[in-house]
Amino acid sequence: MTIQQPTELTHAAMLGLGVHRPERVVTNDEICEVLDSSDEWIQTRSGIKTRRFAGEDETLIGMSTAAAERAMAAAGVTAEQVGCLIVATSTHPEHTPASAPQVATALGMTGTAAFDISAGCAGFCHALNLASSMVRSGAESHVVVVGVEQLSRFMDPTDRGTAFIFADGAGAVVVGPSDEPGIGPAAWGSDGSQAHVITQTPSCIGGHGTGQDHPVVQMEGTAVFRWAPFAMAEVAHEAMRLAGVAPDDLDAFIPHQANLRITQTLAKNIKLPESVAIATDVVDAGNTSAASVPLAMEAMLRQDEASAGDTALLIAFGAGLSYAGQVVTLPPLG
Ligand SMILES: CC(C)(COP(=O)(O)OP(=O)(O)OC[C@H]1O[C@@H](n2cnc3c(N)ncnc32)[C@H](O)[C@@H]1OP(=O)(O)O)[C@@H](O)C(=O)NCCC(=O)NCCS
Repeated sequence: MTIQQPTELTHAAMLGLGVHRPERVVTNDEICEVLDSSDEWIQTRSGIKTRRFAGEDETLIGMSTAAAERAMAAAGVTAEQVGCLIVATSTHPEHTPASAPQVATALGMTGTAAFDISAGCAGFCHALNLASSMVRSGAESHVVVVGVEQLSRFMDPTDRGTAFIFADGAGAVVVGPSDEPGIGPAAWGSDGSQAHVITQTPSCIGGHGTGQDHPVVQMEGTAVFRWAPFAMAEVAHEAMRLAGVAPDDLDAFIPHQANLRITQTLAKNIKLPESVAIATDVVDAGNTSAASVPLAMEAMLRQDEASAGDTALLIAFGAGLSYAGQVVTLPPLG
């Protein structure tokens, strides 16, 4: 008995990009109404000037649906064509059920495979690698990938290490077949020995009786700063090696928007030529974790800092610790 498998390999690319940025813009001064900090300190240490928080009517599922709708319109792909939908998030309020089946249904999909993945701020690049592998293998023709977070619900507004950094938003792409390779192999990995660096506290198990009604994100910011700009430079070079691309071949560098100082130090450590445009969406959007790479991609395309068809290096890293990066061809914007 031979098990049947698709045998035709194809190339995969991002065919369309869409985002949802929540309407409410939150300034550093508003954050400092509760947090013991200042606009000047926040801008100097993180580059962040504003971020967006979801309003009462903007749910994680609603933001995901809006971003995916725009990505599908940009790709010219209908709900019937999508074989799988992956949501990368760490802030869906329920462990069960996952958010992705509800997003798929809201998009008019019926019977579509849909599941969530959790890889912290690296979630989108992990999901992109899964989607690319599915399309390349012939297992699915079109896969929607969503990166989404509603971190404003999971923050302690008085915590000086996190309250000014994290924010909300959603970004999505459609991955589908292509004449040319549009998504390079991923350089990805993890280091569970550093699980304590970015955590949720209290944990779902240990939180009862603490008086806290929901967990919040906690972070050893200095440890992240010591790790990311150096370890991720190696991951960047590995992603370029796997794709057969040199720094001079890149048009854009779109790292996870952790904070501006990490981005700048990482770009220096990678030794990117000055011709490479660097994403700085964190300044206006804050750190939106799994949503930050597609949001930063959209900002560069919208502001003409990069164009559809350009070659870009994506790198994402965060809780786990987990990381993933790949060289991609930028998609059209919805
Ligand atoms: C969070 C971060 C900005 C803090 O900067 P830092 O220089 O490491 O800050 P430290 O905790 O060492 O504190 C330095 C000083 O600032 C003060 N400080 C800390 N947080 C503050 C805040 N929010 N506002 C004002 N002052 C603050 C401290 O009290 C300390 O004061 P002191 O020198 O008088 O003792 C920095 O560690 C960072 O950018 N880390 C990476 C975080 C990140 O991007 N995470 C994303 C993960 S995906």
